[in-house]
Amino acid sequence: MRKIAVLTSGGDAPGMNPAVRAVVRRALSRGLEICGIKRGFAGMFDPTPFEDLETGSVADIIHRGGTVLLTARAPEMMEPENQDKAASRLKEDGIDGLVVIGGEGSFRGAQTLEQRGIKTICIPGTIDNDVKGTEQTIGFDTAVNTILHAINRLRDTATSHERVFIVEVMGRNDGYLALAAGLAGGAESILIPEIEYNLDDVCDRVLKGIKRQKAHSIIVVAEGAGDVFEINKEICEKIKVDVRVTVLGHIQRGGTPSAVDRLLGSRMGAMAVDLLYENKQGLFTAVRGSEVVPASLEGCFKTEKEFPEELYHLARDLST
Ligand code: F6P
Repeated sequence: MRKIAVLTSGGDAPGMNPAVRAVVRRALSRGLEICGIKRGFAGMFDPTPFEDLETGSVADIIHRGGTVLLTARAPEMMEPENQDKAASRLKEDGIDGLVVIGGEGSFRGAQTLEQRGIKTICIPGTIDNDVKGTEQTIGFDTAVNTILHAINRLRDTATSHERVFIVEVMGRNDGYLALAAGLAGGAESILIPEIEYNLDDVCDRVLKGIKRQKAHSIIVVAEGAGDVFEINKEICEKIKVDVRVTVLGHIQRGGTPSAVDRLLGSRMGAMAVDLLYENKQGLFTAVRGSEVVPASLEGCFKTEKEFPEELYHLARDLST
């Protein structure tokens, strides 16, 4: 292993910058050359030369959200012809190993390069926390905190006006983000795709609150659980309450990374380089308990992510 590259791909996540910083600095301290590929896999189809990175290239980024390497979704990487082109480009540039920071879609892109002789190690970076085989992804903790800040503010105005607030959070097809934010934010109801919900039950919980002089209610809805505006309409048809809808949107993806995400990014970035240095491949860095461990990429695609259903029931019990 002489020269490696790093890229960030898919939706950005706070903590990607600390991970890039760790990759670059660990690579340099191992005596490896390191270059950055801009705009994820899309950067491999751009004739612009990859940027050689030095210690100073990643100075002053540990506290910044987003990714200095820029990111993109790259549907072109689904085409075998393009996968061949990407692998050839890396080989032409003398790149022996690649670190890919992103979600499961990015991991699949990485695997196609692996199959074409490029050693790859992946790092899970997505606010959705939906990567199988790891308890946590980089960006999730910051996003949960961002949502909590929003819920705290919404609670102030909800209380003052005695209103119900429906808060839509991201997560694509998964409810991890909504569940964590709903539980930590004390939401009265949490609607997620993994668990069937019934709007009569949601309304009952709102009415129960009103009966015991509770001035407001917060309903957290995962974006994958249904159209919040439809949900709002149905609730308003069922019960006469004052409801407002807030869609948090991409605000959830920005912001300075939390301590948890900086630590994860730093640990995972360094581990990814160490694995390449040892000529390992086909792995991703995973959180298991308090450890960061290497895990099989193939295994990640084959296993089911365990959904912490007990947290859903806990949230219901605690918010009645
Ligand atoms: O995967 C991260 C994520 O923020 C999802 O939660 C969301 O569904 C999606 O990306 C939004 O994608 P885009 O930024 O391309 O609109």
